[in-house]
Amino acid sequence: MERILIKDLNEKVGETVLLNGWVDVRRDHGKLIFIDLRDMSGKLQVVIIPKALENGEAIKAIRSEWVLEIEGEVKKRPESMVNAEDPQGAIEVEAKKINILNEANTPPFDISADGYEVGDDVRLKYRYVDLRRARLNKNIVNRHKVIKFIRDYLDERGFLEIETPILTKSTPEGARDYVVPSRLHNGKFYALPQSPQQYKQLLMASGFEKYFQIARCFRDEDTRGDRQPEFTQLDLEMSFVKEEDVIALNEALLINLIQTLMPEKKIQQIPFLRVTYKEAMEKYGTDRPDLRENKDDKNLLAFCWVIDFPFFEKTDEGKWTFTHNPFSAPKPEHMEKLMAKDDIANILAAQYDIALNGFEIGGGSIRNHKPEALKKVFEIMGFNEESITNNFGHMLEAFSYGIPPHGGIAWGLDRLVSILQNEPNIREVIAFPKTGDGRDFMMEAPSEISSAQLKELGIEIKKNSK
Ligand code: AMO
Repeated sequence: MERILIKDLNEKVGETVLLNGWVDVRRDHGKLIFIDLRDMSGKLQVVIIPKALENGEAIKAIRSEWVLEIEGEVKKRPESMVNAEDPQGAIEVEAKKINILNEANTPPFDISADGYEVGDDVRLKYRYVDLRRARLNKNIVNRHKVIKFIRDYLDERGFLEIETPILTKSTPEGARDYVVPSRLHNGKFYALPQSPQQYKQLLMASGFEKYFQIARCFRDEDTRGDRQPEFTQLDLEMSFVKEEDVIALNEALLINLIQTLMPEKKIQQIPFLRVTYKEAMEKYGTDRPDLRENKDDKNLLAFCWVIDFPFFEKTDEGKWTFTHNPFSAPKPEHMEKLMAKDDIANILAAQYDIALNGFEIGGGSIRNHKPEALKKVFEIMGFNEESITNNFGHMLEAFSYGIPPHGGIAWGLDRLVSILQNEPNIREVIAFPKTGDGRDFMMEAPSEISSAQLKELGIEIKKNSK
């Protein structure tokens, strides 16, 4: 007999079926045991009369989270026992045979509740159990739906999903890099990408024109509620576009996604509000304002584009640095100032961020595709000829072989999904997140490596080298 999923049982009344799943809850009435069986599709009440089963004695030992195979007959529940709130609330299965596939220890915490009350350390150590709770299951399922929607939407509009390397070289996104030592080239290190920024621009040089990627990014920065050391972007780049084209595509994608997958949500304003960085700072004191008219309304979404960012800002040492991304273009009307390195503080970038309910959920820009103009940016930041060549020579060279004007954006996918799921922390929408101090308690990472591995890598660990 082939296994059937619980969600498909409503049409099977009177039939004998084969079920697989976990014991969600068990209620022992002596001669009668009720269990709620749970599989990936739902839950169902199973009625067990131990005396009527071959292995009735063994069955009495069944506890929560044991894994079972059950053969039984689907029956209508008596009218008075129907649970209208449960999709399988009008039926139950009377077990004829039960095969215990696996026994289970008592779970380390209650998984029937939403779990906010349980300490993060223990939840993350037993994440595979934690993920069984309905809330987290729903978050992960909905995350999949969001990603699937994005993939289909962009595919239909001619975008290609292209993977870019994880072992790469440092990219200047403003955070520290995670580095990986090289065995074949002792003393040298790869850096994990803070974003696929340079590769996606190089793909534009290659002529793909419309790229996207559900891209894993790595940033060694202090973790907080909306930050993880390892996170996921929807990364996107387009050729022959202006600011307006990128904004329009992304706005339409967000609106379609929400209206299709979450019809209960209300988008406060369409088209999304646009404010300049200056206006945002003056009016709201932040470049990611929370514009919701009613902050208690869990279904209200207030998007806002923030545009016209200053290109440069002064560092503590008094030098110029980029505010967002050295590869951004200045606003077309500010190109002259950049080329003349004039009035640097007032050069605006063709840069846009998107905020949702007070969080920055994405950012991007039209890029500086003229090598001589890109060089000016590095000069303003105080790079000499040698360091420009060392750090960005490959980009400047690529730009000298015919690169189209291009621009793009990256969304923080974890942030977007956590807001859509009304979760307070992006950890709640990531299957295996890290703790606040960047650890994986389940795998015990980071961990020491063997002395043989260290030797191969040419690495010596200094004692007490904090
Ligand atoms: P940026 O650095 O602004 O741009 O990143 C884009 C978006 O990624 C999200 N994000 C994070 N989410 C979780 N944890 C983190 N540590 C984290 N850091 C950033 C934010 C942010 O808006 N290459 C450019 C994009 C481009 O110009 O196309 C970039 O990475 O939601």
